[in-house]
Amino acid sequence: MRNSARSLAPLTGGYLSLLAGVTLCFPGSLGAQAIVAGERGETVRAGGGMVVSEHPEASRAGAEVLAEGGNAVDAAISTGFALAVTHPSAGNIGGGGFMVIRFPDGTTTALDFREKAPVAAHPEMWLEEGEYSATRHHFSHWAVGVPGTVAGFERAARLYGSREWSRLVEPAVTLAQEGFQLTEGLAASLASVIRRYEEYPATVAAFSRSGTPYEAGETLRQPDLARTLARIRDRGAEDFYRGETARLIAAEMERGGGLITLADLARYQARERSPVTVDYRNHRVISMAPPSSGGVAIATMLNILEGFDVGSMEHNSPEYLHLLAEAMRRAFRDRAEYLADPDFVDVPVHALTSAGHAAALRSTINLERASDSSPLDVVEPAESLETTHYSVVDASGMAVSVTYTLEAGYGSGIVVPGAGFLLNNEMGDFNAGPGLTDDRGLIGTDPNLARPEQRMLSSMSPSIVERDGRLLAVVGSPGGRTIINTVLQLILNLTDFGMDLPTAVAAPRIHHQWLPDRIVMEEEGADSELVAALEALGHDVRVRGRQGLAHSILVDSATGELVGQPDVRNPDSGAAGVR
Ligand code: DON
Repeated sequence: MRNSARSLAPLTGGYLSLLAGVTLCFPGSLGAQAIVAGERGETVRAGGGMVVSEHPEASRAGAEVLAEGGNAVDAAISTGFALAVTHPSAGNIGGGGFMVIRFPDGTTTALDFREKAPVAAHPEMWLEEGEYSATRHHFSHWAVGVPGTVAGFERAARLYGSREWSRLVEPAVTLAQEGFQLTEGLAASLASVIRRYEEYPATVAAFSRSGTPYEAGETLRQPDLARTLARIRDRGAEDFYRGETARLIAAEMERGGGLITLADLARYQARERSPVTVDYRNHRVISMAPPSSGGVAIATMLNILEGFDVGSMEHNSPEYLHLLAEAMRRAFRDRAEYLADPDFVDVPVHALTSAGHAAALRSTINLERASDSSPLDVVEPAESLETTHYSVVDASGMAVSVTYTLEAGYGSGIVVPGAGFLLNNEMGDFNAGPGLTDDRGLIGTDPNLARPEQRMLSSMSPSIVERDGRLLAVVGSPGGRTIINTVLQLILNLTDFGMDLPTAVAAPRIHHQWLPDRIVMEEEGADSELVAALEALGHDVRVRGRQGLAHSILVDSATGELVGQPDVRNPDSGAAGVR
């Protein structure tokens, strides 16, 4: 494996220009440098690189790689493996995700390590004696997709990394072996997990002391996970897909009646894809292509909004939120109708992201009145809000945006016995079954039905924003379908509203997803006058606690410094910079 394999890389300009010694555009030189770690949730400013993630130790793992001269892809891999230890609800090696990369010369690429359906999957697999089974679809061994994270990280390292693979995995091995201190939030979360999944002894063993919940302040050690990570460190993805770890996964599948076989694991490959890009005023947004729906939906919405003078509107006024909701409604309708794995379905990305399509959608918006969402008889199902996003920029200006997930918090809840990591329940992102559209919230449109080896449609939207051709920000979020709208609003806050990063990240968000036809607002932004004004425009308005965790980085155009901003909605998250 390793860096010698980089000669196999496609001729991506960014990487080659780095080799060719293109001028570094950020302050900070390579070599041993100081790490600046924020208190939990704090903004960090630094010139030599930045990592912002859900866990301070994971951000530090990436920042240390940067401080040694590793690039942003190296750091993203280290942080990703570390999150698999310190943020078990969503950080993972048993799940999948997306990585969007912008090289210092402005060229871009993306890695798709989304899970795949096993070969035995079929569109009607969620029916039990003819009846749809939500348990089978979302919480069973059948709900587990073939994991992609380890293959994705290895592919990223081979193509664009610059450091030894073993160096990148090592911090995660140490964190699993020696342990890390549990916060109150994580201790409480693990206590509820061991209750919820008591049928899986390996899950209880991994996250408790022989069945007794840990207290805040105690150290969580994960010896089985440490051994698995050590094998991955020493043997790479080969171990996970064809070696000892593959055998342990297949054994658990057989024990629990799951579908994933050794052959499914051996066949898994991460894909490199061209990101979806959209120009918006003097900005360009680079986001994830299908099988994510995020890039396409964000492009559609920005194209619609470009026809309005958004910057002159008052932020989060009824006028602005009405317009946003109408743009969201239209993009989410397209999503349900057209989006799926492009290896199986012909997704009309160019048409959906074209100016002409946006103009047609725009012409149907009434600024005085909410539209009707029911031209198709489809209701979107509820989904979990657990995933994790992190952002990385290195001293050369290489930017990496990663969102990855187990789907639900703690995925399927199944820890692989002897391997110490959780398996995803990503198969739940496939539609329920052919024609199974009903008012209970099922969706049965064809493109995103479960088929052998298809990737399930995702909303994860790791994104990178340029202003006038230069790197401006790295953004993304967890939150199921709300991800798309969280990222959209963050982009609008930075562009049309000219907010600084802490303000842009903290600003209250809304969500509309076509069906159910309603605006969901964060509690903090939902004062009664605003809600009444939106209701008067014809919207059904609901209020929720919080939407998203958008751990982001901004390049301060005045100083060239990197600003790392953990989303304050989780005070335990953390940024780490390199000075
Ligand atoms: O890929 C998707 O869109 C979902 N499985 C992501 C789930 C999610 O974001 C839950 N998050 N917080």
